[in-house]
Amino acid sequence: MSGELKGKKIVLGVTGGISAYKACELSRMIIKEGAQVKVVMTNNAKKFVSSLTFQYLTGNKVADDMYDLEESGISHIQLADENDLIVICPATANFISKYANGIADNLLLNVLLASKSQIILCPAMNVNMYENNLIQDNIKKLIKNGIHIVEPDSGALACGWIGKGRLANLETIMEIIKKKVQNKSLKKENVLITAGATREYMDPVRFISNPSTGVMGYCIAEEFQSKGAKINIVAGYNEVNFDKFDSYKEITTAEEMRNEISKNLNKYSLVIKTAAVGDYRFSTRLDNKVKKSDDVFRVELEKNIDVLKYIGENKKENQIIVGFAAETQNVVENAKKKINSKNLDLIVANDISKKNSGFGQSSNFSFLIDSSGNIDELGLIDKNDLAKKLASKIEKMRQNF
Ligand code: CTP
Repeated sequence: MSGELKGKKIVLGVTGGISAYKACELSRMIIKEGAQVKVVMTNNAKKFVSSLTFQYLTGNKVADDMYDLEESGISHIQLADENDLIVICPATANFISKYANGIADNLLLNVLLASKSQIILCPAMNVNMYENNLIQDNIKKLIKNGIHIVEPDSGALACGWIGKGRLANLETIMEIIKKKVQNKSLKKENVLITAGATREYMDPVRFISNPSTGVMGYCIAEEFQSKGAKINIVAGYNEVNFDKFDSYKEITTAEEMRNEISKNLNKYSLVIKTAAVGDYRFSTRLDNKVKKSDDVFRVELEKNIDVLKYIGENKKENQIIVGFAAETQNVVENAKKKINSKNLDLIVANDISKKNSGFGQSSNFSFLIDSSGNIDELGLIDKNDLAKKLASKIEKMRQNF
């Protein structure tokens, strides 16, 4: 037992699906990490697993009836308030839809609606139910309200269908639980993260851009959110879903990115600029599609606004500014120049000439370089781990700011 959840109190809500039996194992895994688990079951859940099983596994009486609770000396408000986290595993289509619509016709729904805790919900159901627009709309509604949805896995389902709907892997759920209850060391930070790729249009159908997918920005946003920071995203084209963060604005061009950022720049305590911004744009943008004519077609490009430089020039006291650098040669040297020219506190320099590093990859070959010249050579590192390294570097830097 590594005790990563030592002293934490977790409410485990179990609803009536075939994967309810996996919640037994999950309760054991949470307890093994040192947390206390209180299980709340719906009546349908009890058709799949007995409450006695959970009672023996957790050492706590299972709560299942709103009106019996008094006897056990706890109220649904206590269950809602006195925990570090609520995990619903599995969450059925019926349960998700009731919760998303504020219905409270069982104990577990009452607990959730009365709670200000962090909530993780792990859907598990038939693929067609999961993909049904009504369910998807309800899931989106829950995400908008800050509920963390652990997407189901794909594979053979108990109902005979093959597709997405199988309860996520328990190890994945455990990782998310650990992240949620870890120390909120960055809770004072109001962070702006830029991500994705800008697009500069020549005419209504053609543009210059780059292969950025927004994954690096997403990993950082998740990590900093799990440490309590408020997360604001301004992103160009991307292939991730930023809806669960505190604010999300989508922009197209570098100029739009600068304009959006300038609205609230003074309010951010920390700016992390992962976005891949186009350095050049077309000198003229045409309103109509250019027709094919001569064999050679020449275009004129002009220098784009450098958004990060603008942020550095307007840096306010106590604001930490982190830039990224995509380099193919003289990585450290070039990145250091960017620290000075853009007035940065820290830069993440990525060697994109290395295999599996850079745009669209799950890892980067990185160096963390601060304005005092300290260099952490991280080598090839998973983007999630890079986000963790960045968070601990910021924690240390904040102590000296
Ligand atoms: N950046 C920006 N606006 C630009 C270009 C870059 O805000 N027009 C930001 C990026 O978001 C990144 C940092 O500046 O955080 C460095 O980007 P990079 O592409 O590595 O460098 P450039 O400044 O564009 O310089 P070069 O292309 O010459 O390496």
